[in-house]
Amino acid sequence: MADAFDLTIIGSGPGGYVAAIRAAQLGMKVAVVEKWSTLGGTCLNIGCIPSKALLHASEMFEEAGHGFKALGIDIPAPVLNLPQMMNHKIDTVAANVGGVDYLFKKNKITTFRGIGTIAAPGKVFVTPENGARTEIETKNIVIASGSVSANLPGIEIDEKQIVTSTGALNLDKVPKRLLVIGAGVIGLELGSVWARLGSQVTVVEFLDRILPGMDSEVARQFQRMLQKQGMEFKLSSKVAGIDKQDDGSLKVRIEPAKGGDMELLDADVALVAIGRKPFTDGLGLDIVGVALDERGRVRVDAQFKTSVDGIYAIGDVIAGPMLAHKAEDEGIAVAEILNGQAGHVNYAAMPAVVYTNPEIATVGKTEDELKAEGINYKIGKFPFTANGRAKAMLATQGFVKILADVETDRVLGAHIVGKNAGEMIHELVVLMEFSGSAEDLSRTTHAHPTLSEAVREAALSLEDGAIHI
Ligand code: FAD
Ligand code: NAI
Repeated sequence: MADAFDLTIIGSGPGGYVAAIRAAQLGMKVAVVEKWSTLGGTCLNIGCIPSKALLHASEMFEEAGHGFKALGIDIPAPVLNLPQMMNHKIDTVAANVGGVDYLFKKNKITTFRGIGTIAAPGKVFVTPENGARTEIETKNIVIASGSVSANLPGIEIDEKQIVTSTGALNLDKVPKRLLVIGAGVIGLELGSVWARLGSQVTVVEFLDRILPGMDSEVARQFQRMLQKQGMEFKLSSKVAGIDKQDDGSLKVRIEPAKGGDMELLDADVALVAIGRKPFTDGLGLDIVGVALDERGRVRVDAQFKTSVDGIYAIGDVIAGPMLAHKAEDEGIAVAEILNGQAGHVNYAAMPAVVYTNPEIATVGKTEDELKAEGINYKIGKFPFTANGRAKAMLATQGFVKILADVETDRVLGAHIVGKNAGEMIHELVVLMEFSGSAEDLSRTTHAHPTLSEAVREAALSLEDGAIHI
């Protein structure tokens, strides 16, 4: 006999598991279908969490090797214990996915293991790896099936030598030469990890800049910082092919993006990080008639409803930035909407962080966007070289840049390059959420000495002037 639920969610990533918890909190009987053996999706298993564990550990290794001396800490050169670093990553992932298990039990959410297929509105089949198919009866369905790495035609991923982020999070030795294809978030974060651990990293990027979509001044300055750290960039270039050599290394064929003479580059490992694509395999969407857009994403309206009544979708599988917190917020919103509330996500105040060293954190419009939209804006800027705490921490790289409307003073965007930028951005997110002005921020007391004072100083520079510069 079929089990009956108010809501069945397919996928237990940040979108699916958060939607499940909120729906259960609001009184729904909830089922989650997950094909992997652990909950938490890409983010907790092979994305945000393991990458941050390795970013932190490799940053500590780098600090111990190069940062301690100036602080008066004399230690012998640190020795890398890569298996233990990987154990730290594994333990961090286990603690996080176990946390989702605990939350599901606490909220009485039922988990079904297997591939979820929508047989019809109100009916989901679960096909486990072994054993019989289960049928779920459900009033509503939320698709939260996420995304997978995009691949490069003609290049075969083995996750050992030619890898996606999944393999790059799991290498058993430090590659002497790492080739990164794509200067986006994954390429720069994971490139940084291996560069700090000793790899010679070369990044090949199709466009003439790194981090497309981010403020171009930020991207330009950040590229220089990464170059100082030893990373090399080949912009306006594409990888035409990769050949495995007899000695076990890779020969990479690189061409100018617009065509021209080919260049050969030797590498030990190649990381393909050219973006991610929505994952809808096995869901049965064509049978049930759920429409996709031109990029293969599930098409939804402002209430996250697909083209079929009773079927909703959230997270990486729909349009918008592929970010865990975006998926989570959509999860909360869809659960609230299903319970008659006004669930809402403010995409205009959605932060994004690149967890390199220094970090990049951004919210709202870039200067490039404001120019393109013909908006009359003003720029407030403050460098960390003029911030007392940053000097004490030897963390003076970077700056805060705030963009505000000339007529209304309303903050339209903010971009921070610097240590802990990912923590500092949130006062700007809250400010934008409340449609705040630069003056609101400049008149807000900030504790001294903190890195966050640089944020206030950037706002002050939009008013009567920053104090410390
Ligand atoms: P996913 O997390 O992709 O989860 C989808 C789940 O659905 C998976 O568990 C999958 O097994 C399951 N599934 C799919 N189809 C079926 C089916 N038919 N039946 C049953 N189960 C199914 N974002 C950030 O905001 N910050 C970061 O620091 C960050 N770091 C990242 C680092 C890396 C290396 C990667 C790859 C991504 C990173 N991201 C980060 C992006 C983030 O992981 C995604 O935006 C987020 O996981 C999307 O959540 P989701 O719930 O939509 O889908
Ligand atoms: P991305 O979209 O950030 O970057 C891909 C890069 O590859 C772009 O610069 C693009 O121009 C380039 N590119 C595309 N085709 C190419 C080709 N043939 N040759 C050379 N370069 C090419 O995608 P990425 O880094 O793979 O990350 C995927 C998603 O995961 C991102 O959208 C991001 O939202 C998410 N993510 C978020 C993180 C965070 O929030 N800190 C960390 C890691 C991933």
